[in-house]
Amino acid sequence: MKTIGVIGAGQMGAGIAQVSAQAGYNVLLSDLDLEHAEKGKAGIAKQLARAVEKEKITAADRDAALANLTCIGDVSEMGSCDLVIEAATEREEIKRRIFENVGKVLSDTAILASNTSSIPITRLAQAAPDPARFMGVHFFNPVPVMGLIELIRGLATSDATVAAVEGFGKSLGKEIVHANDAPGFIVNRVLMPMLNEACFALGEGVATIPDIDTAVKLGLNHPMGPLTLADFIGLDTCLEICKVLHEGTGDPKYRPAPLLIKYVEAGWYGRKTGRGFYDYSGETPVPTR
Ligand code: 3HC
Repeated sequence: MKTIGVIGAGQMGAGIAQVSAQAGYNVLLSDLDLEHAEKGKAGIAKQLARAVEKEKITAADRDAALANLTCIGDVSEMGSCDLVIEAATEREEIKRRIFENVGKVLSDTAILASNTSSIPITRLAQAAPDPARFMGVHFFNPVPVMGLIELIRGLATSDATVAAVEGFGKSLGKEIVHANDAPGFIVNRVLMPMLNEACFALGEGVATIPDIDTAVKLGLNHPMGPLTLADFIGLDTCLEICKVLHEGTGDPKYRPAPLLIKYVEAGWYGRKTGRGFYDYSGETPVPTR
């Protein structure tokens, strides 16, 4: 593989583009338009500059990574890609439209993969140009720091596709795990009930926001408390994944916490909107309850 297309220059797409460019791939990065893609690249440049300052990479490494990264205005320019990774908004109709558009230009050997955190791969594959060359490739946030990729094959995904994407993931220095196309795959199946339970605990007055976070952070040695992590992921995304688990399994144990639903209804999505369980408008996050 030489050329990787990344569709979506937000938090996840930019991270995937960054690690791919740093691993020496030619990367084509697209978003709604060229301006959005360029904004993603500017964020990557900032991350790489910080890494140079911390002496984690050299200035030459940074320049090489940035030189590998080209922003494009439209997915129709992805005809030269060996692998295209879609990391757009977690909405099925948006992903389907993207697959239709990029499907018009993909070569007969190119692989299309989705970074979806929850939408069933077999269902999404129906919108791909060739379900045998389609699969899930689930990265974790922040992509440059997190060492894992979950690979999810749909019913029709070929062994050759899985092997090629596994090889790509390993070349990024990531550990690979394989999950079946079950709701939430592995990580979100385990993580989301914990984050949702923290929302139940807060809603039922078990403890305050900082005490729930401190308890889990220090009591379980997690890098972040569950409410901080939910804000970091995005409460809208957490709710979507809880719904997928609930609807996909039919098990009431996955029902979303009323407080999580309320926060999303209020537009308090976490860090990305400046307010979730914490208020991010100042220097340090302040608990909102
Ligand atoms: N990009 C690149 N590097 C980053 C970064 C970013 N966005 N954010 C932090 N880092 C690096 C820092 O540069 C630093 O590197 P160094 O130790 O070599 O100097 C290191 O990560 C630690 O960062 P900080 O000292 O600033 O802060 P923390 O020690 O608090 O770490 C954290 C930040 C890495 C985000 C840590 O809190 C953590 O691991 N949190 C949990 C993250 C997590 O669980 N992610 C998975 C979410 S679930 C998901 O993505 C799936 C989806 O489907 C929902």
